[in-house]
Amino acid sequence: MTNRLSNSPIGIFDSGIGGLTVAQAIVELLPNEEIIYFGDTAHLPYGDKSPDSIRYYALKICKYFIDSGCKAIVIACNSAASVAAYDILDFYGNDLLIINVIDPLVQEVVNSAVEKVGVIATTATTDSGVYAEQLKKHRPALDVVSMATPLLVPMIEENIVHNEVSSVILKTYLEDTRLKNIDALLLACTHYPLIKNEIAELLPKQVSILDSSETTAEYLRNELQRRALLNDKKRKTNVFNVSQYHPTFEKITALFFGNEVHLQEIDIWGEHQWPQRGKSNTQ
Ligand code: DGL
Repeated sequence: MTNRLSNSPIGIFDSGIGGLTVAQAIVELLPNEEIIYFGDTAHLPYGDKSPDSIRYYALKICKYFIDSGCKAIVIACNSAASVAAYDILDFYGNDLLIINVIDPLVQEVVNSAVEKVGVIATTATTDSGVYAEQLKKHRPALDVVSMATPLLVPMIEENIVHNEVSSVILKTYLEDTRLKNIDALLLACTHYPLIKNEIAELLPKQVSILDSSETTAEYLRNELQRRALLNDKKRKTNVFNVSQYHPTFEKITALFFGNEVHLQEIDIWGEHQWPQRGKSNTQ
C-alpha cells in the first residue's frame, strides 16, 4: 500500500445526503480526522441507475479522492458498494484503505441472535442480492427478505418527511407481508437513518432497526489503527463537496455539522473516460 500519512484526509461519498449519516458517526468517533465529503447530487438517485453507470461515477469519485491525497475512502452508499466495491478495490485497493457500509452491517447481523431479517434498500442494492448472499454465507439458516423501496431516497432528498405523504409511502412498504415476523429491519441505504424514528413508529416494538453508520465508523477506526494511520493531532476543517449545488443539501449538512459548513459545487468528471487502474498522478 502506498505510503499515505496519518494526517491525510478521509474521502467519504454517497449520491446525496445519505452518506452524511455515516460521515457524522465518523466525525463523532474520530474527531481528529479531516474528512472530504462528496455527494454526487448531479446523478442522484443511484438506486435506479444501471450498475455500469454507478461503477463509472464511483470510480471517478475515488480517483478524485486519491488525487486529493486521501489515506482512506469510505463508500457511504449501499448502491455504489453493492455494484462497485469489487471494482474500486481492484482499481485502487493497493493505493489506500477502502471500506464500505455493507460489510460492517452484515457483521453486526451475523454476530446477533436474529432469525429473520428484512432488508430495505434501493433497487440497485436489492437487485445485486449482496445482503442475502453475504448474510447467508455466514449464517445459512438465517431467513433474509429483501425489498426495494425506491421512493424513499427522492422523498428524503426533497425533505418530504414526517408528514402524511411520507407516512402513506412508508406504511405501503412496511406493511408488505414479506416483512411479517421479522426480528430486525436493516436500513440498507444510508439515507434511511434520517427517517429512522418515522420507520420505528410503524414497526412492532420488538423489531430492532439496524443501520450502518456507527458500525462503519468503528470498522474504519479499527482498520486505521491496524495500519497506524489514526490522526493523533487536531484535524483541519472538513470539506463538503457536491456535483450539483442544492440549498437543501447545504441546510441539512449544516444541521449535521454546524454552521461552519461551506458547501462547494465541483466538477470532477473531466473527459468521459473510464479511470485507469492503480496509481494516480499523485503517486
Ligand atoms: N444512500 C444511497 C445508498 O446507501 C442511495 C442513494 C441513491 O439511490 O441515490 O444506497
